Amino acid sequence: MEKRSNTWESWHRKKVEPRKVSRICDIDEQFTMIENTTSIQEKPNHCIIEIGPADGTLCKYIITKYDNRIDNYTLIDDVSMLDICKNNLLEFDNITYVSIDDIETVNTELYTIFISNHCLAETTQSYRKYIYDNIISKSQEVFILDDTSTGKHFNTDGNYKNELTESLNKLFDNVTISDGHKYSMKTQKLFYANNRK
Ligand SMILES: C[S@@+](CC[C@H](N)C(=O)[O-])C[C@H]1O[C@@H](n2cnc3c(N)ncnc32)[C@H](O)[C@@H]1O
Repeated sequence: MEKRSNTWESWHRKKVEPRKVSRICDIDEQFTMIENTTSIQEKPNHCIIEIGPADGTLCKYIITKYDNRIDNYTLIDDVSMLDICKNNLLEFDNITYVSIDDIETVNTELYTIFISNHCLAETTQSYRKYIYDNIISKSQEVFILDDTSTGKHFNTDGNYKNELTESLNKLFDNVTISDGHKYSMKTQKLFYANNRK
Protein backbone atom coordinates (compact mmCIF):
# COMPACT_ATOMS: atom_id res chain seq x y z
CA MET A 1 0.00 0.00 0.00
CA GLU A 2 1.15 3.51 -0.73
CA LYS A 3 2.44 5.18 2.42
CA ARG A 4 -0.03 8.00 2.75
CA SER A 5 1.72 10.05 5.36
CA ASN A 6 5.16 11.52 5.32
CA THR A 7 4.38 13.57 8.37
CA TRP A 8 4.83 10.89 10.92
CA GLU A 9 8.38 10.32 9.74
CA SER A 10 9.30 13.96 10.20
CA TRP A 11 7.76 14.00 13.68
CA HIS A 12 9.59 10.82 14.47
CA ARG A 13 12.94 12.14 13.27
CA LYS A 14 12.54 15.25 15.35
CA LYS A 15 11.54 13.13 18.34
CA VAL A 16 8.76 15.54 19.21
CA GLU A 17 7.22 14.63 22.51
CA PRO A 18 3.48 14.22 21.96
CA ARG A 19 2.70 16.23 25.07
CA LYS A 20 4.36 19.22 23.45
CA VAL A 21 2.24 18.99 20.32
CA SER A 22 -0.70 20.85 21.82
CA ARG A 23 -0.74 22.36 25.26
CA ILE A 24 -3.42 21.21 27.65
CA CYS A 25 -5.09 24.63 27.38
CA ASP A 26 -5.36 24.07 23.61
CA ILE A 27 -6.98 20.71 24.19
CA ASP A 28 -9.32 22.38 26.72
CA GLU A 29 -10.35 24.75 23.95
CA GLN A 30 -10.77 21.94 21.44
CA PHE A 31 -13.01 20.12 23.92
CA THR A 32 -15.16 23.21 24.54
CA MET A 33 -15.48 23.82 20.81
CA ILE A 34 -16.56 20.22 20.24
CA GLU A 35 -19.15 20.51 23.01
CA ASN A 36 -20.48 23.78 21.58
CA THR A 37 -20.42 22.76 17.92
CA THR A 38 -21.32 19.08 17.58
CA SER A 39 -24.27 17.00 18.78
CA ILE A 40 -22.21 15.29 21.47
CA GLN A 41 -24.32 16.80 24.25
CA GLU A 42 -27.65 15.99 22.61
CA LYS A 43 -27.49 12.60 20.97
CA PRO A 44 -26.75 9.11 22.37
CA ASN A 45 -24.92 6.19 20.74
CA HIS A 46 -21.99 8.04 19.27
CA CYS A 47 -19.31 6.30 17.20
CA ILE A 48 -16.48 8.82 17.05
CA ILE A 49 -13.35 8.63 14.93
CA GLU A 50 -10.32 10.84 15.58
CA ILE A 51 -7.39 11.09 13.18
CA GLY A 52 -4.09 12.20 14.72
CA PRO A 53 -4.91 12.11 18.46
CA ALA A 54 -1.26 12.41 19.62
CA ASP A 55 -1.35 11.21 23.25
CA GLY A 56 -5.16 10.78 23.34
CA THR A 57 -5.88 13.67 25.72
CA LEU A 58 -8.88 14.98 23.76
CA CYS A 59 -10.34 11.46 23.55
CA LYS A 60 -9.90 11.13 27.32
CA TYR A 61 -11.77 14.39 27.95
CA ILE A 62 -14.63 13.40 25.62
CA ILE A 63 -14.98 9.82 26.76
CA THR A 64 -14.71 10.71 30.46
CA LYS A 65 -17.53 13.24 30.28
CA TYR A 66 -19.71 11.49 27.70
CA ASP A 67 -18.96 7.82 28.32
CA ASN A 68 -22.65 6.91 28.49
CA ARG A 69 -23.19 8.46 25.04
CA ILE A 70 -20.25 6.84 23.28
CA ASP A 71 -20.53 3.31 21.89
CA ASN A 72 -17.10 3.41 20.32
CA TYR A 73 -14.20 5.82 19.82
CA THR A 74 -11.67 4.98 17.10
CA LEU A 75 -8.19 6.50 17.16
CA ILE A 76 -5.95 6.54 14.09
CA ASP A 77 -2.28 7.42 14.39
CA ASP A 78 1.16 5.88 14.09
CA VAL A 79 1.61 2.73 16.19
CA SER A 80 4.09 4.31 18.56
CA MET A 81 1.71 7.18 19.21
CA LEU A 82 -1.14 4.70 19.66
CA ASP A 83 0.93 2.94 22.33
CA ILE A 84 1.03 6.22 24.26
CA CYS A 85 -2.74 6.60 23.80
CA LYS A 86 -3.30 3.06 25.09
CA ASN A 87 -1.30 3.84 28.24
CA ASN A 88 -3.27 7.03 28.83
CA LEU A 89 -6.65 5.40 28.17
CA LEU A 90 -6.23 2.09 29.99
CA GLU A 91 -9.49 2.37 31.91
CA PHE A 92 -11.70 2.60 28.81
CA ASP A 93 -12.78 -0.50 26.91
CA ASN A 94 -14.75 1.16 24.10
CA ILE A 95 -11.74 2.48 22.18
CA THR A 96 -10.49 1.00 18.89
CA TYR A 97 -6.87 1.70 17.98
CA VAL A 98 -6.00 1.66 14.26
CA SER A 99 -2.54 2.30 12.90
CA ILE A 100 -2.13 4.44 9.79
CA ASP A 101 -1.05 1.37 7.81
CA ASP A 102 -4.34 -0.40 8.63
CA ILE A 103 -6.56 2.54 7.80
CA GLU A 104 -8.54 0.51 5.23
CA THR A 105 -10.00 -1.56 8.07
CA VAL A 106 -12.12 1.33 9.32
CA ASN A 107 -13.91 2.26 6.15
CA THR A 108 -17.00 0.13 6.49
CA GLU A 109 -18.30 1.84 9.60
CA LEU A 110 -20.64 4.75 9.93
CA TYR A 111 -19.25 7.37 12.26
CA THR A 112 -21.40 9.92 14.01
CA ILE A 113 -18.56 12.42 14.55
CA PHE A 114 -15.29 12.68 12.62
CA ILE A 115 -12.61 14.67 14.48
CA SER A 116 -9.18 15.67 13.28
CA ASN A 117 -7.26 18.52 14.86
CA HIS A 118 -4.00 19.89 13.51
CA CYS A 119 -3.23 16.76 11.56
CA LEU A 120 -4.60 16.65 8.01
CA ALA A 121 -2.69 19.72 6.78
CA GLU A 122 0.48 17.84 7.58
CA THR A 123 -0.44 14.69 5.68
CA THR A 124 -0.17 14.14 1.95
CA GLN A 125 -2.90 15.09 -0.48
CA SER A 126 -3.45 11.44 -1.44
CA TYR A 127 -3.91 10.55 2.23
CA ARG A 128 -6.40 13.39 2.64
CA LYS A 129 -8.28 12.25 -0.46
CA TYR A 130 -8.53 8.77 1.02
CA ILE A 131 -9.91 10.26 4.24
CA TYR A 132 -12.47 12.42 2.39
CA ASP A 133 -13.64 9.60 0.12
CA ASN A 134 -13.72 6.75 2.61
CA ILE A 135 -14.15 8.08 6.13
CA ILE A 136 -15.55 11.61 6.06
CA SER A 137 -18.03 10.47 3.40
CA LYS A 138 -19.37 7.95 5.92
CA SER A 139 -19.54 10.35 8.87
CA GLN A 140 -22.59 12.27 10.01
CA GLU A 141 -20.72 15.26 11.45
CA VAL A 142 -17.24 16.57 10.78
CA PHE A 143 -15.14 18.68 13.16
CA ILE A 144 -11.72 19.66 11.81
CA LEU A 145 -9.43 22.24 13.37
CA ASP A 146 -6.46 23.07 11.24
CA ASP A 147 -3.99 25.70 10.27
CA THR A 148 -4.68 26.71 6.70
CA SER A 149 -1.65 28.98 6.36
CA THR A 150 1.27 27.77 4.29
CA GLY A 151 4.17 26.60 6.38
CA LYS A 152 7.08 24.28 5.98
CA HIS A 153 5.33 21.56 7.98
CA PHE A 154 2.35 21.50 5.66
CA ASN A 155 1.70 19.51 2.49
CA THR A 156 -0.92 21.89 1.25
CA ASP A 157 0.51 24.17 -1.47
CA GLY A 158 -1.67 27.04 -0.21
CA ASN A 159 -4.87 25.45 -1.48
CA TYR A 160 -5.82 23.37 1.52
CA LYS A 161 -8.66 25.59 2.69
CA ASN A 162 -10.32 25.37 -0.75
CA GLU A 163 -9.61 21.66 -1.05
CA LEU A 164 -11.20 20.90 2.31
CA THR A 165 -14.14 23.26 1.75
CA GLU A 166 -14.91 21.76 -1.68
CA SER A 167 -14.63 18.22 -0.37
CA LEU A 168 -17.00 18.96 2.50
CA ASN A 169 -19.44 20.84 0.25
CA LYS A 170 -19.69 17.82 -2.04
CA LEU A 171 -20.69 15.61 0.87
CA PHE A 172 -22.69 17.85 3.23
CA ASP A 173 -25.50 20.37 2.94
CA ASN A 174 -24.28 22.39 5.91
CA VAL A 175 -20.62 23.46 5.94
CA THR A 176 -19.28 26.27 8.09
CA ILE A 177 -15.78 27.62 8.38
CA SER A 178 -14.98 29.90 11.28
CA ASP A 179 -11.94 31.77 12.45
CA GLY A 180 -10.05 30.49 15.40
CA HIS A 181 -9.07 33.95 16.58
CA LYS A 182 -10.71 33.73 19.93
CA TYR A 183 -8.84 30.54 20.61
CA SER A 184 -5.19 30.10 21.30
CA MET A 185 -3.92 29.39 17.79
CA LYS A 186 -4.63 32.51 15.80
CA THR A 187 -4.25 30.94 12.36
CA GLN A 188 -6.40 27.92 13.08
CA LYS A 189 -9.75 27.49 11.38
CA LEU A 190 -12.67 25.35 12.40
CA PHE A 191 -14.33 23.37 9.62
CA TYR A 192 -17.65 21.93 10.69
CA ALA A 193 -20.10 19.99 8.55
CA ASN A 194 -23.34 18.09 9.05
CA ASN A 195 -26.46 17.05 7.10
CA ARG A 196 -24.85 14.55 4.78
CA LYS A 197 -26.20 14.67 1.18
C1 LIG B 1 0.27 18.31 15.25
S1 LIG B 1 -0.18 16.79 15.98
C2 LIG B 1 -1.81 17.21 16.56
C3 LIG B 1 -2.21 16.39 17.73
C4 LIG B 1 -3.56 16.75 18.36
N1 LIG B 1 -4.67 16.39 17.49
C5 LIG B 1 -3.60 18.18 18.71
O1 LIG B 1 -4.44 18.95 18.21
O2 LIG B 1 -2.78 18.58 19.53
C6 LIG B 1 -0.44 15.74 14.61
C7 LIG B 1 -0.84 14.32 14.99
O3 LIG B 1 -1.18 13.63 13.79
C8 LIG B 1 -0.49 12.40 13.73
N2 LIG B 1 -0.35 12.02 12.33
C9 LIG B 1 0.57 12.42 11.43
N3 LIG B 1 0.33 11.90 10.23
C10 LIG B 1 -0.80 11.15 10.37
C11 LIG B 1 -1.56 10.37 9.49
N4 LIG B 1 -1.24 10.26 8.21
N5 LIG B 1 -2.67 9.73 9.97
C12 LIG B 1 -3.02 9.84 11.26
N6 LIG B 1 -2.33 10.58 12.15
C13 LIG B 1 -1.23 11.22 11.70
C14 LIG B 1 0.80 12.66 14.49
O4 LIG B 1 1.40 11.46 14.91
C15 LIG B 1 0.27 13.50 15.65
O5 LIG B 1 -0.28 12.70 16.65
